[in-house]
Amino acid sequence: MPTDTFYITTPIYYVNDVPHIGNAYTTIACDVLARFHRLLGQDVLFATGTDEHAQKVLDVAQSLGKDARAYVDEMEPKFKQQWSALEIGFDDYIRTPEPRHVKVVQAIFQKLLEQDDIYLGSYEGWYCVSDETFFTPAEVTDERCPNPECRKPLTWVREENYFFRLSKYQDRLIEYMETHPGWLRPDYRANEVMAFAKSGLKDQSCSRINTGWGIPVPGNDSQVIYVWFDALINYLTVAGYLQDDEKFARWWPPSVQMMGKDIFVRFHCTLWPAMLMALGVELPDIFFGHGFWTIEGEKISKSKGNAIYPTELVTELAELSGCEKNVASDAVRYYLLRAVPFGTDGDFSRATLIQHFNSDLANDLGNLLNRTLSMLHKWFGGEIPPVSRKDDALAKLAEEATTQYVEALENVRFSHALEAVWSLVSAGNKYVEQSAPWALHREGKEQELADVLYNALETARIVTVLVAPFMPCASEKMWTQLGIPGSPAVQKLPESTQFGGLRSGAKAGSADPTFPRIDTKKRKPETGAAAGTSPKKKSDEAASANVISFEEFKKLDIRVARIVSAEKVQGADKLFHLSVDAGEGKLRSVVAGIAEFYDPAELAGKTVVLLANLAPAKIRGVESQGMLLAADTDGRAILLQPDAQAPPGARVR
Ligand code: MSP
Repeated sequence: MPTDTFYITTPIYYVNDVPHIGNAYTTIACDVLARFHRLLGQDVLFATGTDEHAQKVLDVAQSLGKDARAYVDEMEPKFKQQWSALEIGFDDYIRTPEPRHVKVVQAIFQKLLEQDDIYLGSYEGWYCVSDETFFTPAEVTDERCPNPECRKPLTWVREENYFFRLSKYQDRLIEYMETHPGWLRPDYRANEVMAFAKSGLKDQSCSRINTGWGIPVPGNDSQVIYVWFDALINYLTVAGYLQDDEKFARWWPPSVQMMGKDIFVRFHCTLWPAMLMALGVELPDIFFGHGFWTIEGEKISKSKGNAIYPTELVTELAELSGCEKNVASDAVRYYLLRAVPFGTDGDFSRATLIQHFNSDLANDLGNLLNRTLSMLHKWFGGEIPPVSRKDDALAKLAEEATTQYVEALENVRFSHALEAVWSLVSAGNKYVEQSAPWALHREGKEQELADVLYNALETARIVTVLVAPFMPCASEKMWTQLGIPGSPAVQKLPESTQFGGLRSGAKAGSADPTFPRIDTKKRKPETGAAAGTSPKKKSDEAASANVISFEEFKKLDIRVARIVSAEKVQGADKLFHLSVDAGEGKLRSVVAGIAEFYDPAELAGKTVVLLANLAPAKIRGVESQGMLLAADTDGRAILLQPDAQAPPGARVR
């Protein structure tokens, strides 16, 4: 691996939908590695982009009655908007229709044609539009895509196509894998590639009939270049191949090419290296195929409508916690990379996101930084005190954590890196607990107190540098709170994590918690993106109409109930405290804002409708276990009632 440069790529995403949390996972992982390698002092090229010449992109455009070109142009800002909500700092964003890319793709095709690595033949077999993949009859058992993640119906294709001589590179590829352990990661996926290569590689169709969308085959306009052949070349285009020799020499080969397991074996670790071998270009240093996220146990799917979009998730988390949006974005980034070891599959749930938010960020990190800062403000006027004794044990732990962190991230092990940082966070918190600064203050032991606060804040400073690649915005805030000028993003590892860097005499910023604890009792029920399932996303129109799925509706427990008694809540003119029989054998206490419109005597005995599974809440000190449904007419609340007799407890469906 070159020492002064680091080139990292995401796959380029299809533009037939805006990116969801699964696509975001890959992009965040690359962004974190890019930021980490900048901390190591390397010059970084981090590229992402969009794969626009897919048949499915054309199909979607046509189904919307749009011109493909106009459609893809419309989609591009939506991608950038999602990436910006997640603070993705790419250096290059490539779109496959860009002239710089089209030229390179055609030149490569021409070269491979001339050297007989590409030849004209005829293809007969299956094609999966969803995966944009050709399958041989032997791979297909039931006319459905053999990819277990896809399983969509296949199309039988019979057409004249150009073929790439993939079979010719089979032995070289196997030999390369055998002689380059660690090239394909994780190891268990490397075994899959080896098995696939050994099963016998067939020449790969690398063009399709030209239906008006794609890069034309040079010299034969009746064909366009197969979308995967076109897309993989983006990595060369970005690095300056056939455009700028100096640039190319500087950046090639990529240090890490990142992708999900879906496109690891067949495309990135087989077809792509063979194409590079044919071109006589060096192979990338590392391919990493990470696992897939499901959402609450279900595959993320546009048709199921369960996809979660980063902008929505960030907004909801910010609303839920009261933190700034960019801090919420950091928490999402943190959660995705902390919750499961990179490589294995993960199941996304709001409950675990909130759990990590509260426990790791609000509690652990918040205690170390914000609690210590509060003490600093209280007892030292917010000025970092002079230190007489730096804590050797903490200094040693900081050094060890940095070493483990660097080693983990050099090996693309995000959760291990974060575990190393959190072991330091815990050690810092334990140090504060054991040193009991509050007791030192009480006893008037000024210098000892100063030492404890200094050592704790210095630990927080080191942690801030280490979390910066994961949480770029929160770490900036934390840096400012520690009264340090500049930015944690431009520090250098490992020097900047040497114990003792915090400057005495500096004025600390506010002690406000960066990650305010989420009150789970106040959490909205499992409806929006901050709950369990995201709103069904059939289309933007449906989303803006705020449609909910039947599954979501089924979660509502709405029942008939009888009001037994009503009285005013003390000191609140608009509120009644009601006793309600919802057919459960005991009465419920419900607070309702209807006191302006009804008399207590008039209410007793009324049959009404109750939302029974609304999270209980205390309103003006009175427990409310549900909500009465009422029509809102010109600001007046009119209670809903069944139009015939229905017993308390009857379900409303
Ligand atoms: N356009 C091709 C890639 C061409 S690269 C030369 C493509 N695009 S895609 O839009 O379908 O993106 C696939 C990638 O998105 C996966 O490889 C993975 O990185 C990411 N993910 C999509 N769904 C995902 C999950 N459910 N979980 C984790 N990552 C997911 O394939």
